[in-house]
Amino acid sequence: MSKKILVTGATGNTGAYLVEKLLASGHAVKAASRSGRPVAGAEVARFDLTESSTYPAAFEDVDRAFLIIPAGRLNNVEFLEPFIRFAADRQVKIVFQTAYGVENDPTSPYRRAELVLERAGAPFTILRPNWFSDNFHTFWLPAIRHGIIAVPAGDSKSSFVDTRDIADSAFAALTSSRFDGRGFTLTGPEALGYAEAAAILAKAIGRPVEYDPVSDTQFIAILTGAGMPEDYAAHLAELFAMARKGWTSAVTDDVQELTGKPARSLAVYAADNRAKFLG
Ligand SMILES: NC(=O)c1ccc[n+]([C@@H]2O[C@H](COP(=O)([O-])OP(=O)(O)OC[C@H]3O[C@@H](n4cnc5c(N)ncnc54)[C@H](OP(=O)(O)O)[C@@H]3O)[C@@H](O)[C@H]2O)c1
Repeated sequence: MSKKILVTGATGNTGAYLVEKLLASGHAVKAASRSGRPVAGAEVARFDLTESSTYPAAFEDVDRAFLIIPAGRLNNVEFLEPFIRFAADRQVKIVFQTAYGVENDPTSPYRRAELVLERAGAPFTILRPNWFSDNFHTFWLPAIRHGIIAVPAGDSKSSFVDTRDIADSAFAALTSSRFDGRGFTLTGPEALGYAEAAAILAKAIGRPVEYDPVSDTQFIAILTGAGMPEDYAAHLAELFAMARKGWTSAVTDDVQELTGKPARSLAVYAADNRAKFLG
């Protein structure tokens, strides 16, 4: 008989929607967060990836886990490895959310963590999403409320993916063994430039939004001014440098393969999240 599914990052973009979806389908869920905040219908685990003393209770009666790397820090392997080994020792399957393209860069901290998982000896599935559509109502929201998307993307295109599609993909990988041992690149259905994205958002919101292709230096100053650590802001700027080289424009069918449904477009994302831009 199946046991519980541990969801790390249960208060985050992907995790919150994943918990809802698992509960709605009748799965027993352990929603993990550092605060141990109650989540209706789920058992709650007070959990911190950096504190291995929180692992035993979080893993009790669990046979599958969704693992995300918390945004904002870069020393991933150091604190993900103990988690992965703890899970593997108990043959807990891990569905691991990393990031688009990291499989091509063995020096990436995300790829290094993937390799620890691939070699750990327990079942796994890796999900590598492209830039989230949801960044428009999280990271880029303050500028968008002033009618601007200010990122150093040049005239590059990206196949933005809706975090609901990432959660739906994680749901599929957690509730079936068909996808075990594989990595999937999660993208939206089309590659768009930021000027095109601005036009789509403007239409949905009913207010002007324009794209300002700022320099890396301006971008880092904006993010650190809003409180982001400088090393993480510089990391995001590096990701945009990759976008400018054309590396984020691929479109895959992986969401469709995992979920049986086509990925949501940016227009659908914008319409469904309209209220968040107006707030
Ligand atoms: N944004 C993008 O475009 C994009 C694209 C590709 C990949 N990614 C990757 O996706 C990940 C972020 O996913 P997301 O946006 O769904 O997450 P998120 O909304 O940023 O949520 C992060 C979660 O991590 C939890 N957390 C923070 N520190 C923790 C710790 N020490 N131990 C355990 N949990 C901790 C937080 O919960 P509590 O504070 O409640 O514990 C929060 O729920 C990052 O690895 C990022 O690189 C992002």
